[in-house]
Amino acid sequence: PDAPLMRLPETGPKEVRELAHAFNGMQARIAELMERRTQALAAVSHDLRTPMTRLRFRMEDVDDPVLRAAMAADVAEMEQMVDATLSYLRGEASEEPVRPLDLVALVETLVDNARDRGLAADLAAPPRLVVAGRLVSLKRMVSNLLENAILYGGAAHVVLAEEGGEAVLMVRDKGPGIPDDQLSAVLEPFVRLEASRSRSTGGVGLGLPIARAVAQAHGGTLILENGAGGGLVVTVRLPKVQPETN
Ligand SMILES: Nc1ncnc2c1ncn2[C@@H]1O[C@H](COP(=O)(O)OP(=O)(O)OP(=O)(O)O)[C@@H](O)[C@H]1O
Ligand SMILES: [Mg+2]
Repeated sequence: PDAPLMRLPETGPKEVRELAHAFNGMQARIAELMERRTQALAAVSHDLRTPMTRLRFRMEDVDDPVLRAAMAADVAEMEQMVDATLSYLRGEASEEPVRPLDLVALVETLVDNARDRGLAADLAAPPRLVVAGRLVSLKRMVSNLLENAILYGGAAHVVLAEEGGEAVLMVRDKGPGIPDDQLSAVLEPFVRLEASRSRSTGGVGLGLPIARAVAQAHGGTLILENGAGGGLVVTVRLPKVQPETN
């Protein structure tokens, strides 16, 4: 999650040099600030693990089963948030080997899992759609998108197709969608919209940024649109063959 920062050449007339120098100084401070924030976040996330593990053990002494279950759910949620934050900061995806895998089987499993948990999800797909990919990160990408569609839109409708040498994954829902002027903001880390700020929907605002990072790490793209009939449409395009540079 690093934005490339531009440096201006410090040449030319005095005023221009001074301005370029001031600009470069500002850029450097911003870069440093971002770096420090990232490190602080990683440190906090990491250090939270130890007390969470202790809590997990202490919970076993709670006699009331209802209270114990509620605490377990809270701890599990915290662990999930910490894991998501750490894996986002680490950009874990790139360490996994790339291998041919059937996107249809992968998505089918996740859709079935959601259904088994009583959630609404359906899939329309060809028999097979093989891409060169990383299993764990592609799974994470798809489950983040399914989770959003189900949570914010009530149900996930998934379509897989092959189009011009690309694998196309479309996840749509019939919920409220996202205001057009917020479509790019929600792709940034830790951005959650007003309507979903409530803690009841969990979430830290990393689902979409992670999904996009995974698509890009595969040489693909992820775009968000509002469907003509309402609801969010997420379209991921993945090249069927992994590009050399990756
Ligand atoms: N399908 C959708 N319909 C409407 N709003 C959505 C949808 N998907 C995402 N959003 C909005 O975009 C925000 C960011 O989504 P994102 O998945 O990145 O984070 P999150 O769901 O809040 O948390 P998590 O890190 O658990 O995924 C959400 O909080 C929600 O406001
Ligand atoms: Mg999400």
